[in-house]
Amino acid sequence: MNKFPLNKIRDDFPILSSKINNHHLVYFDNAATTQKPKCVIDSISNYYKNYNANIHRGIHTLAERATEEFEQTRSLIKNFVGASSTKEIIFTRGTTEGLNLISSSLAKFHLKEGDEIIISEMEHHSNIVPWQMIANSNKLNLKVIKVSEEGEININHFKSLITHKTKLVSLVYISNTLGTINPVQNIIKICSQNNIMTVIDGAQSSAHKKINVKSLNCDFYVFSAHKMYGPTGVGVVYGKEEILEKMPPYMGGGEMIKDVSFTKTSYNDLPYKFEAGTPNIGDVIGFKEAIKYIEDIGLENIESHEISLKKYAEKALNKIDGIKIVGTAKNKIGIFSFITKNIHYYDLGLLLDAKGIALRTGHHCTQPLMDKFNLDGTARLSLAIYNSTDEIDYFVDSLIKLMNR
Ligand code: ALA
Repeated sequence: MNKFPLNKIRDDFPILSSKINNHHLVYFDNAATTQKPKCVIDSISNYYKNYNANIHRGIHTLAERATEEFEQTRSLIKNFVGASSTKEIIFTRGTTEGLNLISSSLAKFHLKEGDEIIISEMEHHSNIVPWQMIANSNKLNLKVIKVSEEGEININHFKSLITHKTKLVSLVYISNTLGTINPVQNIIKICSQNNIMTVIDGAQSSAHKKINVKSLNCDFYVFSAHKMYGPTGVGVVYGKEEILEKMPPYMGGGEMIKDVSFTKTSYNDLPYKFEAGTPNIGDVIGFKEAIKYIEDIGLENIESHEISLKKYAEKALNKIDGIKIVGTAKNKIGIFSFITKNIHYYDLGLLLDAKGIALRTGHHCTQPLMDKFNLDGTARLSLAIYNSTDEIDYFVDSLIKLMNR
């Protein structure tokens, strides 16, 4: 691709032509959720209009079509993340459910009293609380890797936490608050040398960085559709087949069974063993279009567009007197959490909204990280595929004017 087709991409997202408070929408809340292109919206509505049916159950035409479209998403995701088999791709409601699935199931067969789990100070609540819950129920020790003032993982501290009791490390690939890209490759290598299981939280990375679970060699990788231009309510757990085979199911119900009687139930094969009940069929089908959309543009092209936007925003923000950026890691994506000297982040969020600019304010579901920086919240600008330098200029200009009122 010669030139990034920004105008065409912007046209693909209907919401971007809307006006908010009489201004053109400038959407900078992409770390919370991305907007959806027309192909995703149409595909969901097409399912409900033309072939709505339950999957894996009926033999009628609609059921066959719905099942086929649903399973095509699974195959596409298998290739997207570089898994070995569709058995390794489990649909969930999102990253949070994925992490709960892994932790609850591992708690029943892998993690025993006295075992240690390592996470980091930059995890969002979904990668803290599920581990805390099983740590309490199974009497495990939860250890936390320190993060530097710049927002980088301290590898030496990580190494020092490892003991013969360390059974699992669960780490965010890209921090939703700091934008830091963690050295997961290195961490996974250290873990596999020490026979430690690895869970990578890819919620914030899947739309921004190409990944291959086989070359990463992680045991689990979890992500959500809605942060990658797909619908809400759909997520994925990738897990190595040999581990998933040994894990007990997370939830019981229809679909995850082979045979049920009142005395005994046998479970279905992978991946269905982990997919109890009717799934979010229409949105899984919509997710397929989101993946195709990303692949058509190419993650390498997306990454380079976003890197130039990030550099542009970084330069502009660094010139503003009276703001402090939280998270200045060398290796980061276009996420900027910041506070200003004279406007509280909530007020700033509202004042910017009055100008049509959407960004997130608050603790970004990372309260322990906020505590570490002695903050209770920040404003956060997070960039995506459809953002432009004009939007950054408008934002910076608006911010300066508000700060100098
Ligand atoms: N974790 C999401 C965010 O960063 C919701 O906003």
